[in-house]
Amino acid sequence: MDRFVIRGGNPLKGKIRVSGAKNAVLPLFAAALLADGPCRLTNVPRLRDVHTMIRVIETLGAKVEWIEPGEVQIDGSGVTNLEAPYDLVKTMRASFIVLGPLVARHGYARVALPGGCAIGVRQVDLHLKGLQAMGATIEMGEGYVAAHAKQLHGGLIYLDFPSVGATENLMLAASLTPGVTIIENAAMEPEIGDLARFLTSMGARVKGAGSKVIEVSGVERLAAANHRVIPDRIEAGTFMIAAAITGGHVTVEQAPCDMLESLTAKLLETGASIYLGEDSVEVTGPKTIRAVNLTTQPHPGFPTDLQAPFMAYLALARGTSLVTETIFENRFMHVAELRRMGADIQVQSARGALLNGVSHLSGAPVMASDLRAGAALVVAALAAQGETDISRIYHVDRGYEMLDAKLRGAGADIERIKEA
Ligand code: UD1
Repeated sequence: MDRFVIRGGNPLKGKIRVSGAKNAVLPLFAAALLADGPCRLTNVPRLRDVHTMIRVIETLGAKVEWIEPGEVQIDGSGVTNLEAPYDLVKTMRASFIVLGPLVARHGYARVALPGGCAIGVRQVDLHLKGLQAMGATIEMGEGYVAAHAKQLHGGLIYLDFPSVGATENLMLAASLTPGVTIIENAAMEPEIGDLARFLTSMGARVKGAGSKVIEVSGVERLAAANHRVIPDRIEAGTFMIAAAITGGHVTVEQAPCDMLESLTAKLLETGASIYLGEDSVEVTGPKTIRAVNLTTQPHPGFPTDLQAPFMAYLALARGTSLVTETIFENRFMHVAELRRMGADIQVQSARGALLNGVSHLSGAPVMASDLRAGAALVVAALAAQGETDISRIYHVDRGYEMLDAKLRGAGADIERIKEA
């Protein structure tokens, strides 16, 4: 298990380049299972979660090849095994997304129930209700979900919550299903738009992606296509926060500025300066961070995935901030670790935390409990006095490509300690 050792206090300076989006590329791999031939994806980040997704679809019988760095070829036409096993699904919930494409194309799929994770229960009821509305029979047993349908049909689906994963799973299934499927109260995250663009280039007919209502008119077959993955807005946002907390000046390159409006607005409120370019953003940290309140919301609201890193930033603000988490029920695992570094944060309920800004954070041994909690600790450590030793950074490696090297390139004193 690798660790990061970070000696804080260096203002970040220079340029940091953003990789392809983890949350976009995982459903794109699932989409390739619908195509008649080999699809190529470019701007694919080398992440633990990407490798897990590749193992999942290879287990199903897909052929996956890294052509060159960032470019992957996926041939899903030879899928014969319709079961995604527990030992893979448990390591990455997002692998549940293969259910929709498999049942649409092959009439059957058996996928392990992902179960909860560090940040909450994370049910899949909306995925299943949607597939049932399209004619699938769902059976649960032995920790697995089995979905059967000789032939799915179009349907009207209302999501009680705009779940990102459920919206994607259903769009994937509907693309190869006769009839029209309408998904109401759909998620509007930018990764949904990216999936729709890839599906469209394969010949799917998808309207309304990025809005609350998505209409998919199924086609008989989907052709192979190539696609460039959108940049990772959460990674970009993490670098913006890291620049601000260290009082640095950073140009985040290949930043999807139009997807970062809520974060940009909040950083401006705290006193940071931001210059939005065409595909880059320059952030200058404030001399004094102003306290602000923050509520996570589905897109275009403030992303839950940036709540933890932003909280690390607000720990150093002048004044009191209230952070409200509305998406996940247990997403304050980083608070205890930030408190070990000297932050004054009280968790008031499963949804709300009150921060009284402190003048400085101090380095300490801390532990990453999940991906974004790990990112929060890195952000805090960059600004802390002294040395922070962050263990369990395999969580961070799930979603940040070469985080240590990228931060080092901007002047951070960060070292990866490899352990056998
Ligand atoms: C995706 C992102 C994740 C992000 C999250 C919210 C990927 C790979 N991951 O996760 O980084 O934090 O969106 O923006 O894209 N829920 C149900 N029933 C369901 C599905 C979800 O109750 O059937 C609940 C979950 O328990 C959770 C909330 O809805 O509380 C949001 O989940 P969802 O939008 O589905 O997130 P993911 O797709 O898992």
